Amino acid sequence: MQLLGLTLQTPFVAAPMAGVSGPAFRLMARRAGASMVYSEMVSAPGLLRHQPQTLRLTRILPGERPLVLQIFGADPQQMAQAAAIASRLEVDALDVNMGCPAKKVRRPGAGSALLEDPDRAVEIMAAVAEASALPVSVKIRLGPSHDITEELVPRLVKAGARAITLHARTTRQGFSGRADWAAIKRLASWCPVPVIGNGDVTSGRDAVRMLAETGCAAVMIGRGAMGDPWIFHRAAARLAGREPQPVTPAMKRQALAEHLELARSLGGEGHAVHFVRQFMMWYSRGLPGASQFRRQAGACGELEPLWALCDRFFLEREQAA
Ligand SMILES: Cc1cc2nc3c(=O)[nH]c(=O)nc-3n(C[C@H](O)[C@H](O)[C@H](O)COP(=O)(O)O)c2cc1C
Repeated sequence: MQLLGLTLQTPFVAAPMAGVSGPAFRLMARRAGASMVYSEMVSAPGLLRHQPQTLRLTRILPGERPLVLQIFGADPQQMAQAAAIASRLEVDALDVNMGCPAKKVRRPGAGSALLEDPDRAVEIMAAVAEASALPVSVKIRLGPSHDITEELVPRLVKAGARAITLHARTTRQGFSGRADWAAIKRLASWCPVPVIGNGDVTSGRDAVRMLAETGCAAVMIGRGAMGDPWIFHRAAARLAGREPQPVTPAMKRQALAEHLELARSLGGEGHAVHFVRQFMMWYSRGLPGASQFRRQAGACGELEPLWALCDRFFLEREQAA
């Protein structure tokens, strides 16, 4: 399929998630079958000020692409400058965040606050599209408290948005309630650019169902891929009419070993401990003895014993399977 000028193998893409969708998550998602991945949101002012914690978010590893870099900000000029900088990175497209409900993002007028100021949202979209050499998409919610996509989306498209991701909740909803897939269907029925549906896809079956029920061009998966990157493989298998292969403890162990090497090379031992711990917590979910394992892992501050614990846990589960 074609999206943002790219040819993608499947219509299943990995969501931007602050604190989660760093290089390791993205690499895993790509290896497990995500056809495209998003960076977590990158602050435009932070990029312009060369803030180290912002620049760290722009680190990209071989094997991740196709990759969309997401930026956020409230000022059209700053966003344009940030887009020009981001366009020179090894990324394939840019995305503008107009959906984040976090206070610290909304306070200066960025993220979902832009849905309350459509003129500024459109101005930002136009400024970014104009400044970027890459295709630009936008990720929105339904609106502040009700569905405003019918008024807003045509203006964003006219300003240069080449795709729209709709997280089908209002800002007021935050992450509560159910995502309104009917709203994705409504938007996809008339939107002149591809609509990427998003919200509450937690299985391969859900992903295929969202495609079928809404007619969206692609499905973005967020929380469902946290600790389960193989969801992309299952979605692709189901779409092709095949029964997906089960995820085994050995596959999880292998993934963790790769994470460990990656984390070590990116940030040294301390970083690797923190990082591997997060992934091992996720990967152990649902396996027998997981809570005791997590307690032990939580108390382990050094990489060697942490890995030994991890290795044993997944090998034993593999042998018992
Ligand atoms: C921990 C976390 C961080 C997130 N960070 C971002 C972000 O940086 N940019 C963004 O557009 N959405 C962000 N989101 C929203 C997700 O991309 C997605 O829209 C939302 O989780 C709904 O999809 P899901 O039900 O598949 O998780 C985040 C969500 C979570 C749970």
